[in-house]
Amino acid sequence: MTSSGLNGITAGSSGISTVGHEDIGLTYRGYSIKDLAAKSTFEEVAYLLIYGELPSKALLVSYRKKLMGLRHLPEQIKKLLEMLPSSTHPMDVLRTGASLLGTIEVEGKNGRTAATVGDRLTACFGSMLAYWYRYHARNEKIDTESDEETVSGHFLSLMSGKPSDSLKQAALDKTLILYAEHEFNASTFTARVVTSTLSDSYSAVAGAIGALRGNLHGGANEAAMQLISSFDSAHDAEKSILHMLEARRLIMGFGHRVYKNGDPRSPIVKDLAKRLSDSAADTKYYDISERIETVMMREKSMHPNLDFYAATVYHMCGIPTAMFTPVFVIARTSGWIAHVIEQRANNKLIRPLSDYTGPKLRPYVHLEERV
Ligand code: COA
Repeated sequence: MTSSGLNGITAGSSGISTVGHEDIGLTYRGYSIKDLAAKSTFEEVAYLLIYGELPSKALLVSYRKKLMGLRHLPEQIKKLLEMLPSSTHPMDVLRTGASLLGTIEVEGKNGRTAATVGDRLTACFGSMLAYWYRYHARNEKIDTESDEETVSGHFLSLMSGKPSDSLKQAALDKTLILYAEHEFNASTFTARVVTSTLSDSYSAVAGAIGALRGNLHGGANEAAMQLISSFDSAHDAEKSILHMLEARRLIMGFGHRVYKNGDPRSPIVKDLAKRLSDSAADTKYYDISERIETVMMREKSMHPNLDFYAATVYHMCGIPTAMFTPVFVIARTSGWIAHVIEQRANNKLIRPLSDYTGPKLRPYVHLEERV
């Protein structure tokens, strides 16, 4: 029996998160996403995913300090970031940066484990993005250290060159929590497949970044922004979405492989989008987004996924659109690494079968006889 896209197939067991369970909903290691988003911070969630438990107060303080100490970029990485074309997609910047870091700070050497690689990448991905961005967009070579205590604040301040705004930092922090983990999604499954061959954590993360980049997965937040920002008004959006649906085009940021009755993360991110838009007295994209949501529900009974309103949140945080999916990478690295660790703990090579649909057995044709 085959299933297109492995739809509905349980491809292994995991104790990290529950997705689409009617009784408990979305949880990370048993904690409800609603509680984590409302009461926790991204560093607590990253620690929970990578190390298995929420940190105590003292552990959280030392974990934050540890991440702050892991923001620096080796000279080779800075040179690479300068050499990359300015037209590079920032997802490719991160994929390439992770690969190069893996040759400098080799896993298995100097006590480096999957967990320490996860911490390092979580801490320095923001530095890589901002260094590359500021070098190519503004011709500046920035210092990648900052006094910001959080991963979100560090990214925002490095990108803008100013201390982070507390409202934007808190909003970004919450989206990082929502993006951190989601069971056997395409990029996480990629990380597990890579890990199952006994490969290293950097390769697992680089492969996962490649999988996340596409518009059907993480790239949807960027694609959703392109869609939303192409409209002048909610009225204009409604007209165009109806035409797009008639032409059977996909509306980015809607639908989900698992959630057919709504993504539990969507109301949380929608609320953030509203608060940021109200506070900036600029509700244009929020209003357009709400109208698209209404049309999609009316015409297709389809709900927005996390990526849809995350686009407006990131836009209101001043993050360039091409950086939306890379921000997702910063968050999801902790989830990927949790799965690398779990896969290794009970490893079995992931190697499924395929249904053969090619030609029947036929006689070999010698080179001279081929037409
Ligand atoms: N806009 C319009 N129609 C959509 C749609 C969307 N965003 N998502 C699904 N559909 C339609 C499909 O065209 C299909 O219609 P059909 O039965 O007439 O052919 C039907 O809904 C079922 O979709 P299907 O592609 O089988 O669902 P899936 O589980 O394979 O795909 C996604 C899930 C996420 C890949 C899909 O919903 C999608 O492409 N969404 C847009 C990209 C996106 O937001 N990705 C981020 C996911 S978190």
